[in-house]
Amino acid sequence: MKILLLGSGGREHALAWKLRQSPLCEALWIAPGNAGTAELGTNISLDPNDFPAVAALVQQEGIDMLVVGPEEPLVRGIYDYFQNHFPNLPVIGPSQIGAQLEGSKAFAKEFMLEMGIPTAAYREFTAATLEEGLDYILTQTPPIVLKADGLAAGKGVVILDDLQAAQEELREMLSGKFGAASAKVVIEQFLSGIEFSVFALTDGKDYVILPEAKDYKRIGEGDTGLNTGGMGAVSPVPFVDEVLMQKVESKIIRPTIEGLAKRGIVYKGFVFFGLIKVGNEPYVIEYNCRMGDPETEVVMPRLQNDLVSLFIATEEGTLNQQKIVMDPRSAATVILVSGGYPGDYEKGKVISGLERVGGSMVFQAGTKMAGSEIITNGGRVIALTSYGDNFDEALVFSNRNAEVIKFEGKYYRRDIGFDLH
Ligand code: AMP
Ligand code: GLY
Repeated sequence: MKILLLGSGGREHALAWKLRQSPLCEALWIAPGNAGTAELGTNISLDPNDFPAVAALVQQEGIDMLVVGPEEPLVRGIYDYFQNHFPNLPVIGPSQIGAQLEGSKAFAKEFMLEMGIPTAAYREFTAATLEEGLDYILTQTPPIVLKADGLAAGKGVVILDDLQAAQEELREMLSGKFGAASAKVVIEQFLSGIEFSVFALTDGKDYVILPEAKDYKRIGEGDTGLNTGGMGAVSPVPFVDEVLMQKVESKIIRPTIEGLAKRGIVYKGFVFFGLIKVGNEPYVIEYNCRMGDPETEVVMPRLQNDLVSLFIATEEGTLNQQKIVMDPRSAATVILVSGGYPGDYEKGKVISGLERVGGSMVFQAGTKMAGSEIITNGGRVIALTSYGDNFDEALVFSNRNAEVIKFEGKYYRRDIGFDLH
């Protein structure tokens, strides 16, 4: 099977690595990919949001399956585009309406409310209902959680302790702080607990549950400072025991998949459940319509199934016949980032030491080839994933290799998993 994978992050390198292990994968293209994916297939420089360009590549290379890594093409309707133009091409990812689980917070909240899925109480407001929103804030007990409805590159959630500041934030959001993404704003109850992520792959009626993970989003040690795409992750998550997982499945995963089917929403792809454990109960913080990054860099190494077979079952609607097999070991990943990230940072720094890495897998993210050298090309540069009997043991290797790899301005968190002891 000839497979085209869209995206260019550590997630895509880990997916490419996993796809390549399948005897069913004859050839792999990654668009646009990075210096790491270039070692596993053919990188093609194109924008995954340029659907006609993706279609031209599909036609030219005789692609048999399209796997969509990031959310943006999904939210923009790549699934539907290919349904219209290449109805026989399997596309792994939800339809445009299914991708609204991530593309619109208001859609996701309303869906959860209808399906009885546990999540924070909420109200939604637009410019037309600004005054109501301002009054509503005054009835709330801080902290106040304000969320831009649409995709805002991970910056659309603001949590404030002060009611006046929350009112000001609502005004700004509704007058275009995040462009069209904040034309609608969801205000929700603050949930206090510990977060974790669960991933399902669904064919629209059945699903399989992949290894769970926990990521570390803040730039600073001790979960301080600005939010990033993710600075590290571990899987499994020690506090996610069988009892909690049963609740996640019966109260969240199953009602989500059944709810999609009930609404007639076509969904053949990953569902990422961003969850929080409050007391002993799981609640949904957010849905994503794709795998997580850096969670994929620990989930794929623990998944022992053939990923191409899982994708074929997803397309054919036979996921009920698949059984997930997980590596019993822990996997942990540490992300090396460019100095300054998630603010301004420089690109083009030469990366050295890759050949001296031992005991860890290297998943590249913001990298590219420049002649015979690999240089930095983004904020998150490299994920170092290791195995161990527990996450601490795994991290010994990742942290050691984080020192072995060098580039100017390199930064990483040395405390991944700090809250799990
Ligand atoms: P999101 O983009 O929805 O994942 O939100 C980003 C982060 O904001 C989450 O990972 C949480 O840490 C936090 N967050 C979002 N919603 C809530 C909430 N209702 N209560 C507490 N924290 C939240
Ligand atoms: N690591 C969080 C995400 O992929 O959205």
